Amino acid sequence: MPTRYDSAYHAPVLVEEVLALFTGASRALDCTLGGGGHSAAMLDAGMDVTGIDRDPAAIAEASRRLQPAIADGRFHAIRGNYADAESLLPADVTYDAILLDLGVSSHQLDEPARGFSFREGERLGGAMEQLGGHETVDSGWQTVDPSTVDRRPSTVAPWHSAAHFLNEASLADLTSAFREYGDEPRGARLATEVIRRRERRPFALSDDLVGAIRAVLGARSGPSDFARLFQAVRIAVNDELSGLARALPALRDRLAPQGVLAVIAYHSGEDRRVKLAFREWASSCVCPPKQPVCTCRGRPLGTLLTRKPITAGDAELAHNVRARSAHLRAFRREA
Ligand SMILES: C[S@@+](CC[C@H](N)C(=O)[O-])C[C@H]1O[C@@H](n2cnc3c(N)ncnc32)[C@H](O)[C@@H]1O
Repeated sequence: MPTRYDSAYHAPVLVEEVLALFTGASRALDCTLGGGGHSAAMLDAGMDVTGIDRDPAAIAEASRRLQPAIADGRFHAIRGNYADAESLLPADVTYDAILLDLGVSSHQLDEPARGFSFREGERLGGAMEQLGGHETVDSGWQTVDPSTVDRRPSTVAPWHSAAHFLNEASLADLTSAFREYGDEPRGARLATEVIRRRERRPFALSDDLVGAIRAVLGARSGPSDFARLFQAVRIAVNDELSGLARALPALRDRLAPQGVLAVIAYHSGEDRRVKLAFREWASSCVCPPKQPVCTCRGRPLGTLLTRKPITAGDAELAHNVRARSAHLRAFRREA
């Protein structure tokens, strides 16, 4: 059964579980605003919310949906990369609740013009910052006109599309994207195949990458392989894992005492980074095991709230396929 926070733009996952972690919070930061589903739930739970998204289409959609909260001064949207949270947010403001719901929205995947999908004939786009041609929206914080909005150098990934990446990246970069982000054991062969093909004709459409994948993985490769390897390219294009690594400590430092940072990951590489970061912050000593005397901070920075990731229950899985791979982890800052 769909929940009341689902929209045609996106159906948020694990909403109740996120709200339970944020019990008692009054000021929230939603770093991945998307269609504003989680933000709407946090507003309904009584929190004031600031939302960040690097995609102007998300800023436009969420600002339209949350217009009443903008009018009441309870919601603000900021267009930018959460990896730059430090410079995007007003100095000295801290948050009781910070949410990262990683990856892409259903809208980004479904909208053919965005080029995120392996559907036949789709152009190889996949950049989250791509301008979507939406009209001016007053987000409450700043007026956002996606056709004129600044692309700040620090927020922009090195590649402007999947085609750009596939046509220009080195063998090493292609191999590491397919291997590390796509868990593909034949990543080096696939990278070589991409380079061989692009010398004949540049990559432009989804079919070009599907053809290279089929040539290496065999005729029996199918949608799950295409989804996994297109996702790998998207992660590389948007520089997602290094952005996450930069964001985690910066967001931790934006937590108010007892504030909670919650992260929903859909990819094993993302989830591993979150797990290791939270584990390290919750340990009292992070010195190398053989070091005789502790020289590190010698105290935990807070508490791990999830020894194991929280995953979706059967009812949610039955109506939201995206929830299948969702792993929610949370960390609470010390008092
Ligand atoms: C899974 S969707 C979030 C959906 C949202 N929770 C909702 O309820 O609709 C992820 C969103 O994060 C945005 N995003 C991904 N990486 C980002 C980054 N580094 N900085 C800011 N936004 C990012 C995407 O553009 C997308 O809109």
